[in-house]
Amino acid sequence: MSTTAPIPFMRLTLGADDAALREGIDRVLASGWFILGPELAAFENEFAAACGAAHAVGVGTGTDAIALALRALGIGPGDEVITTPLSAAYSALAVMMAGATPVFADIDLDRLTLDPAKVEAAVTSRTAAILPVHLYGQPADMTAIAAIGRRHNLAIVEDACQAHLASANGRPVGTIGAAGAFSFYPTKNLGALGDAGAIVTNDAPLAERLRRLRNGGQTDRYHHVEFGVNTRLDEIQAAVLRARLPLLPAWTTRRREIGARYRQALAGAPIIVPPERDPGHVYHLFPVRSARRDAAQADLRADGIETLIHYPVPIPEQPALAAIPSLPCPNANRVCSELFSLPLHPALTDDEVDRVAAAVQRLSAADAVGG
Ligand SMILES: Cc1ncc(COP(=O)(O)O)c(C=O)c1O
Repeated sequence: MSTTAPIPFMRLTLGADDAALREGIDRVLASGWFILGPELAAFENEFAAACGAAHAVGVGTGTDAIALALRALGIGPGDEVITTPLSAAYSALAVMMAGATPVFADIDLDRLTLDPAKVEAAVTSRTAAILPVHLYGQPADMTAIAAIGRRHNLAIVEDACQAHLASANGRPVGTIGAAGAFSFYPTKNLGALGDAGAIVTNDAPLAERLRRLRNGGQTDRYHHVEFGVNTRLDEIQAAVLRARLPLLPAWTTRRREIGARYRQALAGAPIIVPPERDPGHVYHLFPVRSARRDAAQADLRADGIETLIHYPVPIPEQPALAAIPSLPCPNANRVCSELFSLPLHPALTDDEVDRVAAAVQRLSAADAVGG
């Protein structure tokens, strides 16, 4: 085997999941039932159990999961939702889909998630909720954020789209706030073969309302009691997710092993490695920071190593959000110009991790940035 084969950022070809996945799809094809059937019901039970939650409600995307969780909690026009400027823009777009206004509080430079002091400072009489994002698989500081929520009587919806099976201070993410939103986009720690998402909650009436909202607001067939949307996790994707869910604990262990191996091998490298602040981190991504990001990425590319940027633009700076005024977010602005992500997925071998780390160690010392 060549030791210089390119290392792509991600591999989405089938592995240990292959047989179970094809079996699941065949089961659905044979059943002739494609929407809101037994596969989804079973997946919802299995995913809720895996998350330590009482209920899971499958929806079409992680974005819809966030938007519907907010709506089911009664949050909408006139309400402000405090969230992070550093995330997939979908986090904030989902707030806007619910009709509410995102208010951006800056990030903590270590965790790269919401800074609780900035959240506290952003609370106004219109604040209705906080949407922390467990970014890159690292939980936000939920102890401090939950305390702010209690003090100001705010709902908390966790964006756990990158944090399947993560825990914050030992508590499963998604179960700390009123609801948690997950994405099963194909590249996620648990991915479908298309778009899919889910909301978990311990609140039975909330789960009931979410089941209605995802299905056009219907109670019975063709009886629409409220303004819902059409966003259902279909039977084929549910069967795919059921095939993969039993593998998720081992995949998560492998992600953590790779994270630990990178941390050790990158000691002293001319980049900043954001620290692990909670052992419940599930390493969806492995971001590092460099003052000379373009050069660093180009050098790694020359070594056959593909890296990506998560994320190049702070959400408040996106043209799509130009109409929304934002508090200053200097930390987010800074890291968006420095961050890039190294390959990390369960199929990455130790040899590949070592090759990536060695290439990063060879980057110019001028790439380092101050903390
Ligand atoms: C943190 C975060 N929130 C929300 C989303 C939206 O999820 P989806 O792509 O399933 O709509 C994603 C993924 O894109 C994400 O990474």
